[in-house]
Amino acid sequence: MSCPDGDGFADDIPVSGVTDPAYDPDKDDREGNLRPQRLADFLGQARLKENLGLFMTAARERREALDHVFLIGPPGLGKTTLAFIIANELETDCKVTSAPALEKPKDLAGILTTLRERSVLFIDEVHRLKPAIEELLYIAMEDYELDWIIGQGPAARTIRIPVPPFTLVGATTKAGMVSSPLVSRFGIQLRFDYYESEELAAIIRRSSTILGARIESSAVGLLSRSSRGTPRIANRLLRRMRDFAQVGPLARPRAL
Ligand SMILES: Nc1ncnc2c1ncn2[C@@H]1O[C@H](COP(=O)(O)OP(=O)(O)OP(=O)(O)O)[C@@H](O)[C@H]1O
Ligand SMILES: [Mg+2]
Repeated sequence: MSCPDGDGFADDIPVSGVTDPAYDPDKDDREGNLRPQRLADFLGQARLKENLGLFMTAARERREALDHVFLIGPPGLGKTTLAFIIANELETDCKVTSAPALEKPKDLAGILTTLRERSVLFIDEVHRLKPAIEELLYIAMEDYELDWIIGQGPAARTIRIPVPPFTLVGATTKAGMVSSPLVSRFGIQLRFDYYESEELAAIIRRSSTILGARIESSAVGLLSRSSRGTPRIANRLLRRMRDFAQVGPLARPRAL
């Protein structure tokens, strides 16, 4: 491991992420290249995938924006991954934000005005949207317009700015905290289930191929049973097991 900058961190460690107080090591996504890019590589969740694949094909054939998609499920099951896959499969761009980052209506307005026809806008943690932002979003989702107030007091007036037809993908781990007017505006609602052991085994095999690590079937079984139905945990355990296999007490001697 080299530290060319002399800062004590190897090049690949996201220094800003580590020093960020909001940094959650559980979500450390140095597994970026493990994230599937296409629906075919997204393993498990068969029913969800089948439905979504069909809706995307239909929208593509009609050359329309896909209806808004609501992704619901516990952490680490693939919501963010699927949002990017939707944009990839629809061959469109994906604008990404999360509800806590949208402090003022102008933050959302700034994003809405950059959307193109059939763009995907991914908003993570939608249960944390502020009421004023939700109000703006309702009109944008339903009428593809942005209600904007200019001026103040009695001189204030509202102008409506058109927004191109786009697809909002909202994700949450806490569906019960999302207001029903917002939920009802998502035409497609997809709920993630915890993964079966065989599905996790397939994910572990795929990840180990990408990482270039050979893994025995018994180890795949052990990891998949220890992953609590969650691909993020499976990938994390795989990377730690790889570390042990490389330099742990049972590692094969290596030429230095
Ligand atoms: N179906 C899948 N097939 C293969 N890998 C997957 C799948 N789902 C998730 N993963 C892997 O698990 C990791 C975590 O998934 P992701 O970040 O999409 O979860 P999330 O549901 O958005 O979690 P959070 O709620 O914490 O944001 C991904 O980086 C990806 O490598
Ligand atoms: Mg996520």
